Parts: sequence; structure tokens; C-alpha cells
Amino acid sequence: MSTADAYQAFADREARDVSPTYHRLSRAVARDPDLLASLDTLPPAKRQPNLLFGVVRLRGGPVDDPAAFREHVLAHWPDVAAQMRARATQTNEAGRCAVLLPVLAALPQPLALLEVGVSAGLCLYPDRYAYRYGDRRVGDGEPVLDCALTGAAPPARRPEVVWRAGLDVNPLDVTDPADLAWLDALIWPEHRHRRDRLRAAAAVAAADPPLLVRGDLVDDLPALAARAPAGATLVVFHSSVLYQVPSARRAAFTALVGTLPGHWLANEDPAVLPHAQTPAPPDGGFHNVLALDGRPLAWTRGHGQAVTWFAPVRP
Ligand SMILES: C[S@@+](CC[C@H](N)C(=O)[O-])C[C@H]1O[C@@H](n2cnc3c(N)ncnc32)[C@H](O)[C@@H]1O
Repeated sequence: MSTADAYQAFADREARDVSPTYHRLSRAVARDPDLLASLDTLPPAKRQPNLLFGVVRLRGGPVDDPAAFREHVLAHWPDVAAQMRARATQTNEAGRCAVLLPVLAALPQPLALLEVGVSAGLCLYPDRYAYRYGDRRVGDGEPVLDCALTGAAPPARRPEVVWRAGLDVNPLDVTDPADLAWLDALIWPEHRHRRDRLRAAAAVAAADPPLLVRGDLVDDLPALAARAPAGATLVVFHSSVLYQVPSARRAAFTALVGTLPGHWLANEDPAVLPHAQTPAPPDGGFHNVLALDGRPLAWTRGHGQAVTWFAPVRP
């Protein structure tokens, strides 16, 4: 896919109806030969809209007006390019716990959670957050995660988690102001509720930090999984990670994860983790597929704001 097509696709599939600012910006970049030529000097994996927009926000550049954005990026290109080369999109969205929760709550308790592509670990606390599925509340505390749920009842209670660990090539630390600033910059401009959620979830993680290990989701997974306590159901899970992993490594990961004890829960773009049989998604927006042990169960929106079940939740 050309860089122009990637920005247009991001506008149409991901930003439309979710962020008018990024919808406008990504459409403008898709039509701008100068910006596209600059982006094409970067390796393909470093040309992503979310990375460019996050870096510009981190460095205090304008994102509200496409003309001012263009001027800023071209005037500061060496710095923007260096930041894009050095960083990766590591959005850590605690809201995704709302789409994982019905499956986690249905598994034999207690759970030992191991997330690959864990970022700062904010998805490792599904037992600590509160949930609002329409008018049904599950649990209490902060943050409260809102999720439109269709096709299944919300879980009656939160899971019991006795161990939480994560692997990432670059784990982030929510107690480090620089890491928190990058996580904040990755949140889309209008999403004030997500910014509040980041702060609240970071406080939960900081109060009881998870075991975060720097490593690769294939090479280092067996050793970390072996540290899970006996007597708990091991759940290896991941959300919005595999698009960053080359296809041969994705195949190695899916082969490996099937050999581990416990369960495998994936919440991924079906373009990178395809399933043989899924119904059509609920609408034209971007959706991940939630799958347990390779069996697709539901369509989910990217930040956990909605889940549409098409198969029974129970394993
Ligand atoms: C978009 S973030 C998603 C974070 C988190 N799963 C969530 O849903 O909020 C993807 C994460 O995957 C990590 N990652 C990418 N390739 C990886 C690999 N080969 N092994 C481990 N982590 C990886 C990145 O560093 C990044 O933190």
C-alpha cells in the first residue's frame, strides 16, 4: 500500500466518526506530495499516521489545522523524522479491558495474565477497573470503562487475577513522566475521556506494578509463561499488537502460543490475524476480532468502546 493510500485508509477506516481532527489531517496528508515525499524517506513501518500525529503532538506542534500542521512538519522535518525513527506507536488503552472482560470472567478462576505487546501494562488490570455496559455496572472504582455491548449479556462479576506479567520490546513505565507524556501524545486530540482514563489507569498500575519484561513475543514468551503460578489459568493475550510484527514472526507466534498451557485470547485486526469464518462487521468502521484459542467470537472497536458478539462467550 502506498503512503497516500495508508493515510486515506486510516482516515476512512479508523479516524472517521472517531476523531474529526485526525480524519481531516490524514486526508490532507494523503493528498500532499511534499509530506508524502518526506514520509517516504522513512522505513515503511515508520510512516504510520498515528506515529506522525503522536510525534507532532509530543513536540508541541499543531494538529487542529492541516495547513499549520503541514508547515510545522516540513519546517521541523529532521526532528520529526528522528522522533518517528526512534519511537513506535505504543498506545496503551485500558478501555480494551471492557471487550476482554466477558471472556476473562468466563474462564476457570483464578487467572494468571500474560500480555504480549504490553506497553505500560494498563490492560493487565481487568479485575481493578469498573465497567458500564449500557445501564449495567460491573465492579466499582476508577477508571469506569464504557462499552456498548451487543449479542451477549455482560459478565456478572470481574475475574480474579493472581498474577500479571507482560512482554514488550520497549516496556513503558507509567511512573516515568517522559513515558506518560508519550502515552498521552498518542491519544487522539478530542479524546479527553481517554486522557482521564490514562491517568486513572496509570494510578492503578503504579499502586501495584505488574511484572514487565523487555523481550520479544516469540523468543521470550516460553520463559515468562513458565513463571506463571501453578493453580491459576494462564491466559496469554494481546490487543492491537500483531500489525507491528512481521508476518513470519506472527506465524511463529501463533504456532508457539498454541503449545502453551491455558488459553490464548487475541484482539487483533483480522487483516493481520485472519480467521476462516467471521460474519460481516457491524458497520464500515474499523474493527478488531476477539478470538479465544483461535475461535473468533466478536467484533470490537479499536479503543474498546464497543463489542458485538457473534459466537458464545463461554469456552
Ligand atoms: C499499539 S501497542 C498496544 C498496547 C496494548 N496491547 C494495548 O492494547 O493497549 C503495541 C505494543 O506492542 C509492542 N510490540 C511490538 N512488537 C513486539 C514484539 N515483537 N514483541 C513484544 N512486543 C512488541 C510495542 O512495543 C507496543 O508497546
